[in-house]
Amino acid sequence: MAELTYLGHSAFSLRTNKAIILFDPFLTGNPLATAKAGDVDCDYIILSHGHIDHVGDAIAIAKRNNATIIANYELTTWCEQQETSVHPMHIGGAYDFDFGRVKLTIAHHGSGYADGDNMVYMGNPAGILVTTEGKTLFHAGDTGLFYDMKLIGEMNAIDIALLPVGDNFTMGLDDAAKAVEFLNSKLAIPMHYDTFDLIKADPEAFVSMVRKIGKEAKVLAIGDTLEI
Ligand code: NI
Ligand code: MN
Repeated sequence: MAELTYLGHSAFSLRTNKAIILFDPFLTGNPLATAKAGDVDCDYIILSHGHIDHVGDAIAIAKRNNATIIANYELTTWCEQQETSVHPMHIGGAYDFDFGRVKLTIAHHGSGYADGDNMVYMGNPAGILVTTEGKTLFHAGDTGLFYDMKLIGEMNAIDIALLPVGDNFTMGLDDAAKAVEFLNSKLAIPMHYDTFDLIKADPEAFVSMVRKIGKEAKVLAIGDTLEI
């Protein structure tokens, strides 16, 4: 049994028997987040890409918890320069960690980190497949809709798909509903909406669209935990 907690935006905490894994822990600066970066525990942090609203508090949280950051090679190289433990991976590659298997997929998006006047290159953005305790979770990161989601769905029995629905920077509601069809996930959970004015969206409209195609979706309020 694992527990998935929504921390707002694209940030989730996954508690398994072996480890606590954080995804894209953007808390400080998220006006909707309720968890504080100084209170979050974890063993691993998985980052989908290098944008500030995904890297978020990763460095501070990793240092405080002595946690390992898992991400693409360019992004982990930067994290290593910030003196955190890292495990570099790249798109298409999988690795068996103590808590389960992680595989990075493609995502269609950008991945630069705005550091003062510089835009630091952070490699290609990714989606994240995690298989743990018999369940497979797909965190899509930030991405537009792409047809290879069908392949990801064919080759992985996805129990839970975390999908951006906020539009403007990523898929909007319609495209995210189509992604559910492609991924053939058992349950879809919307993310990456309402945090900023540019990504206001109605997550319940997403749920309705998904149900229309005979699939299931559920809105997690920030702070909600789901047993998976
Ligand atoms: Ni992004
Ligand atoms: Mn984003």
